[in-house]
Amino acid sequence: MIVTTAELYKVAYGKFAVGAYNINNAEQTMGLFRGCIDSEAPFIIQISKGARKYTDKRMLEAIIRTAEEIFPKAVFAVHLDHGDEETCYDCIDSGFYSSVMIDASHEDFDTNIAITRRVVDRAHAKGISVEAELGMLGGVEEDIQVDEGHACLTNPDEAVEFMKRSGCDALAAAIGTSHGAYKFKGQQSLHFEVIEAIAKNVKEAGLPPTPIVMHGSSSVPKEEVRRINAAGGTLDPTACGVNEDEYLPAAKLGVTKVNIDTDGRLVWTRVHREFFRDKPGEFDFRPPGKTFQDEYAKFIAHKNEKLGSAHKLAEVHQVLGK
Ligand code: G3H
Ligand code: 13P
Ligand code: ZN
Repeated sequence: MIVTTAELYKVAYGKFAVGAYNINNAEQTMGLFRGCIDSEAPFIIQISKGARKYTDKRMLEAIIRTAEEIFPKAVFAVHLDHGDEETCYDCIDSGFYSSVMIDASHEDFDTNIAITRRVVDRAHAKGISVEAELGMLGGVEEDIQVDEGHACLTNPDEAVEFMKRSGCDALAAAIGTSHGAYKFKGQQSLHFEVIEAIAKNVKEAGLPPTPIVMHGSSSVPKEEVRRINAAGGTLDPTACGVNEDEYLPAAKLGVTKVNIDTDGRLVWTRVHREFFRDKPGEFDFRPPGKTFQDEYAKFIAHKNEKLGSAHKLAEVHQVLGK
């Protein structure tokens, strides 16, 4: 069942985080749905601009609609990840997406607000919610001075002004994470103080509780990197991601959507590298594709446990009355 992203936020806010997983093809989609059914978790499917171009945007829609038929118990929303203005309008007009992300975080503050406001007006007219980004996600390196590191993070005072003026429904905030496999060297903690300050400011400003979105949430498991490299990969073994045990504490403070893509790519890379290392004469892509679907389902179920979204399907049905 496709629900709106706002409905999922309503159930999850302050209690658990909903996993937002990127998909590009049928294998990922099958693994994602199976993992979420196995763990009884609601979820958000994310489609990036790159994913829409990889085959054809209509292909992804067809795959998702078919997965919905194969897994009738699945409860999920469909979201555009890191959209520009034009792609947001295309998704809003398609009638398929539950929510869009307008990413104008590279623009100056006022331009970011103006672009986001235009997208919000078009989206809200069709009942679609909007995620917008404030602050620049980037590696907050261990050896960077604290002040410099903080310069990348979302400013909680600006966040309230941004939300008021842009009208966005969810805020992608820079709280110490970055995209990809090389987030930081050595374990680092999320900036919980920034999450807390944003939530506090929102409350004091009389705004409704605003879900905070955490991009760059992959944990880059050491064991996954080790296996990839043992099978011929050359990933930096010191690469490190977000501590999975911090997902839930962040969720309790208002992080309601957690974006995970890289970790799934690592699963794909590990499965395929090991398969072709062990069977160098093989050229049928279905055996590793099958293994990938199984491994991806296990990976998704594990993430949902860490996010606190596992075993929440009954509650979702009860709260939403459907
Ligand atoms: O944050 C970006 C996501 O990981 C999607 O990546 O643009 O390569 O599809 P992509
Ligand atoms: P990762 O690269 O950490 O998986 O982040 C994905 C993401 O933020 C998608 O928007
Ligand atoms: Zn992202």
